[in-house]
Amino acid sequence: MCVCGVITMCRTTNEKAVIDKVAVVIAAAGSGTRMGLDQNKIFAEIAGVPVLIRSVEAFEGLEFVEGIYLVAREDEKKSLASLVAQSELKKVKGIISGGETRQESVYNGLMALPKDTQWVFIHDAARPLVSRQILEDCFENLLRFGAVGVGVPVKDTIKVVKDGFIISTPDRSTLWAIQTPQAFSYSTILQAHQQARTQKQQYTDDCSLLEAFGHKVKMIAGSYQNIKITTPEDLILAESFLLGGEKQVRQLVGFGYDVHRLVPERKLILCGLEIDYDRGLAGHSDADVAVHALMDALLGAAGLGDIGQHFPDTDQKFKDISSMVLLERVVELLKIGKYQIINVDLTIVAEKPRLAPFIPEMKENLAKTLKIPMENINIKATTSEKLGFTGRGEGIASYAVANIRSQLPQRF
Ligand code: CTP
Ligand code: MG
Repeated sequence: MCVCGVITMCRTTNEKAVIDKVAVVIAAAGSGTRMGLDQNKIFAEIAGVPVLIRSVEAFEGLEFVEGIYLVAREDEKKSLASLVAQSELKKVKGIISGGETRQESVYNGLMALPKDTQWVFIHDAARPLVSRQILEDCFENLLRFGAVGVGVPVKDTIKVVKDGFIISTPDRSTLWAIQTPQAFSYSTILQAHQQARTQKQQYTDDCSLLEAFGHKVKMIAGSYQNIKITTPEDLILAESFLLGGEKQVRQLVGFGYDVHRLVPERKLILCGLEIDYDRGLAGHSDADVAVHALMDALLGAAGLGDIGQHFPDTDQKFKDISSMVLLERVVELLKIGKYQIINVDLTIVAEKPRLAPFIPEMKENLAKTLKIPMENINIKATTSEKLGFTGRGEGIASYAVANIRSQLPQRF
């Protein structure tokens, strides 16, 4: 057992290192008013991953983190729990109800920690870009100093303003903007919170409580990228930090082309839509020529071959199958390969029937299956001025271009 009085990494008598463990309280019980979304900003996604999940993930992989405790709004506890359940997070030990203010939320979180907790990190769910380096530095300094704040020197000159007029200009060289995490001895911060409650004092961060009660708090450098997601432009900023930090994001283009013969006694199906016409396209599947060209474009962009390879027409299981079902599989293949579809553009060449009236519904079909917004889908129909096989009405041809990118990084 550790008997040292000083706050430092302890060693047992046989010199085997005892790793100090920390509990992490993540405050997620705000309402994100300044973000102006119809949901709490912690559910907003940055490059495909919710803000909250990114914040929790930052702590997951650290050996010294024993358990993570999320503080959530009562009415959001369920959605938070299901988000956590969908992820691969293993260290989330509890979801606790938050309070009216951040301070109350943190207090509730602290109260829910195991009584033998020695160290605690307090972090805002709204800071999803906190790096491993910051967390490790914070832990190291916590063991040395017992109370740590993370921050950055301010870049702007700060003014104290009252009633619309400048009152004073503090010396910028001493000013830091505070971030989270902030890390403390559990008993010390809990006591400070209890004292603040008794005195009915409200503070916007946890270091302030210790400062107010005369404790020394070590300040260490965080990062200018460890921003708090507060207003809409912060989401754009965060995404660009993630993109900028990941050089291997690639944007790729694929091209597809297909032709099917028009024959009597077949349905005409284009982009999953049955079109009333006296002939339809011949083929092993439903012969949806537009979707075939699109699938080839998507597979081409991802370097995954073509539809013939994936869905051979010699295979009976593809007989008369809806091409939209095959498209779903192509979308799944891209997902497995960590590709994201950006936009697609299709051209259908048919002398008849007139396709323009069907385009909106075709786009809707594709948007559902591709899982991208309608505005990222373009479908054009054209004739070939009575020239060639399409002009003579012997068949329909289709061209497609797909633009994809290798999926954005999941972690910072
Ligand atoms: N927070 C909390 N409980 C509260 C208020 C805030 O747990 N009663 C959390 C937020 O979820 C956020 C962090 O404290 O992760 C920092 O607060 P802030 O950025 O102000 O978030 P919100 O209060 O949600 O946003 P806003 O002030 O714009 O409403
Ligand atoms: Mg707030």
